[in-house]
Amino acid sequence: MYRVAVIPGDGTGPEVIKEGLKILNKISSVFQIDFDFKEFDYGGHRYLKTGKTISEEDIEELKSYHAIYLGAIGHPDVKPGILEKGILLTLRFALDQYINLRPVKLYPNVETPLANKKPEDIDFVVVRENTEGLYVGSGGFFKKGTKDEIALQEMINTRKGVERCVRYAFEYARKRNNAKKLTLCAKTNVLTYAHDLWDRTFHEVAEEYPDIKADYAHVDAITMWMVKNPEWFDVIVTTNMFGDIITDLGAMIQGGMGVAAGGNINPEGVSMFEPIGGSAPKYTGKNIINPIASIAASQMMLDFFGESKAAKSLEEAIISTVGELKSMSAGNMGYTTSEVGDLVAEKIRGIKIP
Ligand code: IPM
Ligand code: MN
Repeated sequence: MYRVAVIPGDGTGPEVIKEGLKILNKISSVFQIDFDFKEFDYGGHRYLKTGKTISEEDIEELKSYHAIYLGAIGHPDVKPGILEKGILLTLRFALDQYINLRPVKLYPNVETPLANKKPEDIDFVVVRENTEGLYVGSGGFFKKGTKDEIALQEMINTRKGVERCVRYAFEYARKRNNAKKLTLCAKTNVLTYAHDLWDRTFHEVAEEYPDIKADYAHVDAITMWMVKNPEWFDVIVTTNMFGDIITDLGAMIQGGMGVAAGGNINPEGVSMFEPIGGSAPKYTGKNIINPIASIAASQMMLDFFGESKAAKSLEEAIISTVGELKSMSAGNMGYTTSEVGDLVAEKIRGIKIP
């Protein structure tokens, strides 16, 4: 029995999570996997009513779950930063979800803006460091509001944090068993302290993985290669901020925010799975948002639980469903949000063991 904390959150979050739960319930009956879902109302709505984001007690309670299934956090009436810091980043940090795993995979029959690129060309995974770097919130103002103002925002990199991330990425490249190539994405030509630490750690750890090709690309160049030659990549490991930026580009080349899912992973603790597209206020409540990303996030959760047969069957159902949609973008799918959920659910079948 898997205990899953469900945080539908804001905007279109509840609509896409509803479809994900529809799928997980179908998985449950086909594969005899038991889930115990408990819903939590963290998000902008609750914040506007109560002034609360997420507390230490809330975090303690979440620690008793096997995983968290998250919709979206972000509300147009709340000043930027409050909910992001107060809920999403707090969860990532407090639960020490030090990896943000973001697959970039173009499914067959999904349109990519890259001319002449096919599903076999766009299939890689970004391992984003998720608890350090520019995201730690260290810094401050001096003489704020005057013409002598100074604003500092520090980028923190620890040997421990870098090493566990790099190690996870090497292990992942090995387990993925594809091109067996790991590319470090950093900016060693300018960030000569912070990214020197990344570079040294990467090459030291690489010696323990002679079966994995260790490669390097500067972050600016990688945005170029991701567009020009995405087929070069197998696994990319990178810092928190760079990972944030390049995975939005990744989402676009795999067909858009409607398909991109991610996992905030603590390999020894509670992990959290989410569609990476955000709360999309302008599509909220219209039953037109694409739930595939949220469904793909539930597939990542099944994989994380080691339920590989169920995850495989779900991936096949997703692939076959996206082939039937007119487009991946909200309002243009040819189906409503809930109809897309139904299409995926119908296609979930038991896989026969030969
Ligand atoms: C993401 C988001 C978050 C991030 C924001 C909402 C804090 O953009 O998950 O990529 O920057 O990590
Ligand atoms: Mn982002």
